[in-house]
Amino acid sequence: MPTAAIAFDAFQRLADEDCEARIVAAKAALGKRAVILGHHYQRADVYKHADLTGDSLKLSRLAASTAADYIVFCGVHFMAEVADILSRPEQISILPDLNAGCSMADMANLAKVERAWRELSEVFDPDEQVTPVTYINSAADLKAFCGEHGGIVCTSTNARKILEWSFAQQPKVLFFPDQHLGRWTGHKMGIPLEEMPVWDPDEPMGGLEVEQIRKAKILLWKGHCSVHQMFQASHILRYKSQYPDAIVISHPECNFDVCRLSDYVGSTEFIIKTIAEAPPGTRWLVGTELNLVNRIAEQFKPEGKIVQFMAPTVCMCSTMARIDPQHLAWTLENLVQGKVVNQITVPEEEAALARLALERMLQVS
Ligand code: 13P
Ligand code: SF4
Repeated sequence: MPTAAIAFDAFQRLADEDCEARIVAAKAALGKRAVILGHHYQRADVYKHADLTGDSLKLSRLAASTAADYIVFCGVHFMAEVADILSRPEQISILPDLNAGCSMADMANLAKVERAWRELSEVFDPDEQVTPVTYINSAADLKAFCGEHGGIVCTSTNARKILEWSFAQQPKVLFFPDQHLGRWTGHKMGIPLEEMPVWDPDEPMGGLEVEQIRKAKILLWKGHCSVHQMFQASHILRYKSQYPDAIVISHPECNFDVCRLSDYVGSTEFIIKTIAEAPPGTRWLVGTELNLVNRIAEQFKPEGKIVQFMAPTVCMCSTMARIDPQHLAWTLENLVQGKVVNQITVPEEEAALARLALERMLQVS
């Protein structure tokens, strides 16, 4: 008789050390049938179990190329969706806690993007004028929208190349959901700020005048990351007044002033690589999520590199942190029993269009 999946209740009160041993045992039992992918922001007690780690671009490539039956994604919901879209139909993508979402991704939804498209059509035909570009931090239906309307997906690593591709298709871009990544990338391409107005999805016509829409090169969706918005220019100025030789490196989800005051701006993978390649004894101020900064600080301490977190307060990706050792142990032990819990499935019609936008991205970058 078929048995039911093991309920999470049994894991809820499990001590972290017990989870650790059970994760190791379950991984050994599963062997190559399961691969654990871990984003750089993942908490240390989960990250250490990842077989492969990376930024969003690297993880999407890994998801597309793994041979494992089960892709256990220690990241957030949109990442597990991308894994489902890019993997083979028989592979199974799993998010150990379904509550691990992304607050930025939630700032855009299909109804609002479709409304924006309708409103734009009062000024011009958006399908003849606008390339929709979604940051990978978005739901699958928004990626599908981009696939359907000649658009594309970008990550923090390839945003510039993707915008260049987009402008080769149409003269304008609608960029969602992160205004900061869009603005910084457009600025680096030489686009004046006046030609990158913010589209407020809660206002009629995005809160813009028709003339502003006509003049715009990039319409920036009013969205942001709740973690990266905590970093401020004043944090950089204060630290630099104390340590003038400090090198500042930030993620492009930080606001424009923070990016402008930074010596380097780039993805999580770029941040790690840049500090790894720097001379010993250098001092760094880093504007990105705390788990990653702590890991980098530990990793490069033996080389005498000093790595300081940018904000005075704790800025963690609290949604990603919901994937704790308890949820990972529960997920893996179910797989050992042949039970799949928390599978992420994107409906095929939506997945096909989203795949189009993702594959355009993978080809361009
Ligand atoms: P990366 O692609 O740089 O890893 O960024 C993902 C993310 O969600 C940053 O907040
Ligand atoms: Fe989303 Fe921000 Fe977390 Fe990145 S750090 S996954 S953008 S909430």
